[in-house]
Amino acid sequence: MSESNAPYSGALEGSNAKRGLWSSRLAFILAATGSAVGLGNIWKFPYVTGENGGGAFVLVYLLCIAAIGLPIMMAEVLIGRRGGHSPVNSLKAIVRHDKLNPAWWIVGAIGVVAGFLILSFYSVIGGWAVSYVGTAASGQLTGQSADAIGTIFSDLLGDPATLLMWHTLFMGLVMLVVAKGVRSGLERAVSILMPALFLLLLIVVGYAMTTGEFGRAMTFLFQPDFSKLTTSGILVALGHAFFTLSLGMAVMMAYGSYLPKNVSIAKTSIAVCVIDTGVALLAGLAIFPIVFANGLEPGAGPGLIFQTLPLAFGQMPMGSLFGTLFFVLLIFAAWTSGISLLEPIVEWLEEQKGMNRTISTLGAGFVCWALGIASILSLNLWSDFAPLGWIGMLEGKTIFDLLDFFTANILLPLGGLLVAILAGWVMSRKAMEEELSLSEPMFRLWYVTVRYITPVAVGAVFVYNLFGS
Ligand code: PHE
Repeated sequence: MSESNAPYSGALEGSNAKRGLWSSRLAFILAATGSAVGLGNIWKFPYVTGENGGGAFVLVYLLCIAAIGLPIMMAEVLIGRRGGHSPVNSLKAIVRHDKLNPAWWIVGAIGVVAGFLILSFYSVIGGWAVSYVGTAASGQLTGQSADAIGTIFSDLLGDPATLLMWHTLFMGLVMLVVAKGVRSGLERAVSILMPALFLLLLIVVGYAMTTGEFGRAMTFLFQPDFSKLTTSGILVALGHAFFTLSLGMAVMMAYGSYLPKNVSIAKTSIAVCVIDTGVALLAGLAIFPIVFANGLEPGAGPGLIFQTLPLAFGQMPMGSLFGTLFFVLLIFAAWTSGISLLEPIVEWLEEQKGMNRTISTLGAGFVCWALGIASILSLNLWSDFAPLGWIGMLEGKTIFDLLDFFTANILLPLGGLLVAILAGWVMSRKAMEEELSLSEPMFRLWYVTVRYITPVAVGAVFVYNLFGS
């Protein structure tokens, strides 16, 4: 690359100027929120909360967001802004400038690998949402019993051809935007659709309040019962914090590289974390009253929202309309996240391999799509196939479960751990102070967190889970 000998700060300004910056702080918040808010908030948060017993799990998750997720998000945005390139090249620029060990580009590489793996199954779940638009719009949900709604869902899972069709459509949507270059239109779409999704969630919460089980759902979500919390539950909470905030795979680094210098990294990161957490908690409040009112199982697994929300839409006035709208908006939320999963891979192919954007998108998208077929088959023909079942904690996990487990609970926290070490121990403290421009006590709080708290917490959860009893 031509800039390989350019001084770091020169490369920084030069390249940012060439790539164009976000139009404003709001634009960055919108793009980062578009990445963060997705299936993780509405599909995954409720079902992992249900599987892990509720309140105590939610508390650990909130702690992980505030004490680990937020500081790491700040570190990622900071590294991206300082580097001014795609993640792999930003890291290379920083390594060159600060004369660090070249192996640090591994952080960007983790992002590329995690992006492939996550998008492959993410698109399959996105496909479920696509399928439910038709189900809701055709009025099939109206007045149905919990059993009938359950059957609609299991019929979908049992039909690989239909799943493949929706997975293909979802992946096509993601590729379309990435091939055209991400930012055109994305900001505007998020600024309209995200508030709309929020509003619809509020409507469902409003309905859920009338079911009579709202109090029970509140207790379930917010009254910690630590006897229900397991060590693996703590790992899931930590992993989910990374997943839901799009951390540990350099997405925020990529977006941070477009952030203008004068914007506060702390304030924007806090905004993204608060919005993301707010959407997840609202989804929980929408779903659990319906679970309890209909005698469903909170630990039902990945199908939870597809077995509960349709019940609500089937019973509330104008349910077909609201249901259709809801699933359309869910697709948009998943779409903007899917784009952010594919984007780092495509940028990397462009910059490293000199491929053009369309070819990179087609190539990377095709690999994710093909990998997604394994997840589709895990739901039906291969549902009993647990390739790593001989390892205690992976017992009974299908390929789909393994992809989810390995990316969210291992790869992302590992990526985050490396980011924390890089920011806390390797890069110069002065550079950090300069980028963050916080008051002294706030800076110290952040610094101590990335230097000690994050590495120790992530390390402890890892050791305990992976090597413990
Ligand atoms: N944060 C997204 C969600 O919650 C998923 C995601 C993870 C996106 C990692 C990008 C990177 O749905």
